[in-house]
Amino acid sequence: MSKEKVILAYSGGLDTSVAIRWLMDEKNVDVIALAVDVGQERQDLEVVRTKALGIGAVESIVKDVREEYVEDFITKALMANALYENKYPLVSAMSRPIIVKHLVEEAHKHGASYIAHGCTGKGNDQVRFEVGIAALDPDIHVLAPVREWDLKTREQEMDYALERGIPVPTTKKSPYSIDDNLWGRAIECGILEDPWVEPPADIYTLTGDARGEQCSEAEYVELSFEQGIPVALNGRKMSFHEIIDHMNELAGKHGFGRIDMVENRLIGVKSREIYEVPGALTLITAHKALEDLCLERDLLHYKLHIEQKWAELVYNGMWFSPLKEALDGFIETTQQLVTGDVRLRFFKGSCVTVGRRSPYSLYDYNLATYDASDSFDHKAAKGFIDLHGLPTKVWARQRRKVGKEGEV
Ligand code: ARG
Repeated sequence: MSKEKVILAYSGGLDTSVAIRWLMDEKNVDVIALAVDVGQERQDLEVVRTKALGIGAVESIVKDVREEYVEDFITKALMANALYENKYPLVSAMSRPIIVKHLVEEAHKHGASYIAHGCTGKGNDQVRFEVGIAALDPDIHVLAPVREWDLKTREQEMDYALERGIPVPTTKKSPYSIDDNLWGRAIECGILEDPWVEPPADIYTLTGDARGEQCSEAEYVELSFEQGIPVALNGRKMSFHEIIDHMNELAGKHGFGRIDMVENRLIGVKSREIYEVPGALTLITAHKALEDLCLERDLLHYKLHIEQKWAELVYNGMWFSPLKEALDGFIETTQQLVTGDVRLRFFKGSCVTVGRRSPYSLYDYNLATYDASDSFDHKAAKGFIDLHGLPTKVWARQRRKVGKEGEV
């Protein structure tokens, strides 16, 4: 009888390499490894592919999904100005849904009824994998070797690997846990687990030190958007993907895009996280600046709530959910007239909006100006304030009647 098949989300690292062998031995399954390229820092994915086969995977697949990631996933995050707890642009939370989509696709293609991932039991990523998989195919079973096995320490894991001829990292392991893709980089663990300690300089690879020479001269950048999507950089037409790559480099060089935060994980633990997100933060800054110009007041204010909810849902692993989908619909509608240019200035680690323009701008000079061309009806303000303040007046009179005048 042929064995059951499992599609394993494979990174090439120690955990998922040991997982291949563990799944074969403990669960008696055929392992198909899937490595998904979401723009993580260049590792040779062909090496990763053959490594899985060497350990015993019956098949090993590498999929470059970067274009799809930008078009169908990051586009939505930018339109939503998505920042979890108003800070974190959802780097890891964004890549899990697209990985899930391809895991399920491969499971169907290969007739596999199992999917496995290498997440621990303490993070958000396990939730994102498992809820995402359930949403796309509620009948698929999930295996989480790292959560199940008894390899408590890294040494035990190394021993397990060495005994079975699984290649182990030859260089000393970095004390940090790093996850990255083209939307940014997340760094945790090691000394960073003490929230009082300033992050050491060597954790950063995408951003320079804002105190350095390379940040002491200002640089201006012009970003152009069509219906909420970046389409040109300094007047040169480019794909959104190319713009992200360019901005990661340029903003990173200026030392912009570092985040040091304590965040609330879904599983109930606070954790200290460092992020490097030069491109993502630059693009969100510019996109917001253009929305300030183009969105009508009520819509803009309402969208702020929607943005927060959207980020929370995606952080919590609810990418594939009816509410998230409905919010996508709302957000897309708001973007129809978000077209125009934004000028940014980078200097000493900062990125500031210094100009914005749009054919759909709602900014009316004659209404805004204090000079002679002012067309705003100043006299109308009196009646407006009378009515706007009427409930307050009624309240104050009542307070006087009961002898509580002036008290708040
Ligand atoms: N705390 C972030 C999140 O939940 C980053 C997670 C990084 N994942 C990792 N395996 N290092 O989105």
